[in-house]
Amino acid sequence: STDLIIAIIGGYLLGSIPFGLVLTRLAGLGDIRTVGSGNIGATNVLRTGRKDLAALTLLLDAGKGAIAALIALALWGENAALMAGTAAFIGHCFPVYLKFHGGKGVATFFGTIFAINPDVGFASAVAWLAIALMFRMSSFAALVAALIAPAISYICYGGSDWIAISLMVIVIFIRHKDNIGRIIRGEESKIGQKKKI
Ligand code: G3P
Repeated sequence: STDLIIAIIGGYLLGSIPFGLVLTRLAGLGDIRTVGSGNIGATNVLRTGRKDLAALTLLLDAGKGAIAALIALALWGENAALMAGTAAFIGHCFPVYLKFHGGKGVATFFGTIFAINPDVGFASAVAWLAIALMFRMSSFAALVAALIAPAISYICYGGSDWIAISLMVIVIFIRHKDNIGRIIRGEESKIGQKKKI
């Protein structure tokens, strides 16, 4: 229906805003895509040494997924919310404003699942934190946390949310292709490490 199309396009356009790129540029740090992993996300913004900007990037990249889902929820209900949040996630990974070369989707994934099901969001976020503290790798923590989300959604809540969540997880894994190679080779950068990778 028209509602779902508006939810998807609106979510996509909101999700396409590359906050990490915008914030670092406004701060006069140049192009974040020439730093560290070259990614536009909070983990890479942290490699500039600016913790404040990294935290803000995390908040805004997660927030755009959550806001897209919550606006759609208020206007059209749960199905539209899931579509709008997933579209925001796709927007972050393939943003129209950056010729479709975007981020890895982790923050926007969290924002979206928090809005759709706070319990699943919380469980997955706790998994991220635990793995991140243990291994000091943002990417590895994200991959494990991402796998946990659809499993908990399916096992604890049933329904069909897990299908959209799984789709996002597949995209997260594809976007982390280079990270997965570095993890396997033992070369992945540790959180906060500034070296060029
Ligand atoms: O959210 C992206 C994170 O999982 C990895 O980022 O910059 O280390 O490739 P990065």
